[in-house]
Amino acid sequence: MIVIGSDHGGLELKEAVKAALASRGMDVDDFGTDNSDSVDYPDFAEKVAGAVSRGEVELGILICGTGIGMSIVANKFPGVRAALATDEFMAQMAREHNNANILVLGGRVLSADMATKMVNVWLDSSYEGGRHQRRLDKIAQVEAAVGATEL
Ligand code: RB5
Repeated sequence: MIVIGSDHGGLELKEAVKAALASRGMDVDDFGTDNSDSVDYPDFAEKVAGAVSRGEVELGILICGTGIGMSIVANKFPGVRAALATDEFMAQMAREHNNANILVLGGRVLSADMATKMVNVWLDSSYEGGRHQRRLDKIAQVEAAVGATEL
């Protein structure tokens, strides 16, 4: 299971990404938006990042025009590591080094073909752990220090 959300700027790419996920046989829960009316990206980032943060689902994908707004909002949520990526290398590193649990894409930045490749490499890659875990632990410490979570 994976959850996905977009604003109007990410709607078209979201449909392409959903098709790519379906062709992998994945169950996808689409939290909207579902039409081209102008909407506010924080509303959809909150739904997807909230579900990941609460542990209701392991992975999510967020798409807005650039991916910037969605990544800003998603990374406010404790335990969320949302990675805005623009190519396959970044998508791979997002998983291998950052163990990103949300991949953020720009609907006005990426082609459907590139986004499909990025989603596939993110899903097919594995977190490497090791020295990277020390850094993820420090992210958790930062969250605790600013009062977002308790350790
Ligand atoms: C909407 O016009 C646009 O601002 C939004 O999709 C996103 O790019 C914000 O970061």
